[in-house]
Amino acid sequence: MHPTKVYGHRGAMGEYPENTLLSFEQAILQGVDGLELDVQLTKDGEVVVIHDEMLDRTTNGTGFIKDWTLGEIKQYSAGANFTKFPKYKPEWEIEAVPTLQEVLELLQDHPHIELNIEMKTNHFRYEGIEEKVLELVNLYGEGRNIIYSSFHLPSILKLKVLDPFVEIAWLIHQPIPHPNEYVEIFGLEALHVAKDIILASPYQYKETLKRLRVWTANSTDEIKQLLDLQVNAIITDYPEKALFFRSER
Ligand code: G3P
Ligand code: CA
Repeated sequence: MHPTKVYGHRGAMGEYPENTLLSFEQAILQGVDGLELDVQLTKDGEVVVIHDEMLDRTTNGTGFIKDWTLGEIKQYSAGANFTKFPKYKPEWEIEAVPTLQEVLELLQDHPHIELNIEMKTNHFRYEGIEEKVLELVNLYGEGRNIIYSSFHLPSILKLKVLDPFVEIAWLIHQPIPHPNEYVEIFGLEALHVAKDIILASPYQYKETLKRLRVWTANSTDEIKQLLDLQVNAIITDYPEKALFFRSER
C-alpha cells in the first residue's frame, strides 16, 4: 500500500460545491482517506463550514459570516453559484452552508476518514472559536483522527493548550528555513505546505516528508511528483484523480 494519503479539499471542490455535505459525501464515495474543511464563526457563535469570511462567492447571500446568525445563513444556497460545473444539477441549490456539527454527524458512518479542520482565524479573531470547535469534536467526533490546521499559528497553539492531545499542523504558503525546527519547537505534528514550495525544493523538506501534507495538488504532474516523494498526504480538489494515480503504484 502506497503510504501517501489522499485528502479531499473542501470535499471534492473541483467537481462539487465546496464545503457542502454533498461535496463531502461525494469525496467519501470516491474513497478519500481524509477530508479538509474550513470553519468560521457566526454572529450567534455557531461554527460553520465555509472557506471565505463572506457569503458572496460561494452562496447566493452577501456579507460577512460574523454579521449573520446561523438561521440567516441557512436561508442561502451553497450550491446555486456552481451552475458552470459540468456535473451541476438543479438539486444542488438545496445545499446549505453546513455546521461543523452536521459534518461530524455525517462522518459518524465513516469512522476511518481523517478530518482536517482548518481554523480560518487569520482575518478575524473569532473569540472562543477554538473552545467551540473542541467542544463539538468531543460531542460528535469521538475517536476520529482529527488534524487542526491554520495559517494563524496562535490559533493552533491555543488548541494545544486547551487539549494537549490534539494534533496540530501549521499552514505554510512561503518557504521557511529548517522546517524541522518549527515542528520540534512549536510541538507541531505536521506542516501543511503549498505544493510549489515542496516541488521547487523537495530536498529542504527531506527530513519532514512523513509530516507533510501538501496542498492543493491538482495536476497529474504534481500528484505524481508528490506520490514519488511519499509525503504524508496530498490535499486535492480532485481526489478521484489522485486516488487513481495512487492505485497504479
Ligand atoms: O488546507 C490547505 C488549504 O485549504 C489552505 O488554503 O485557502 O484553500 O483554505 P485554502
Ligand atoms: Ca482550507
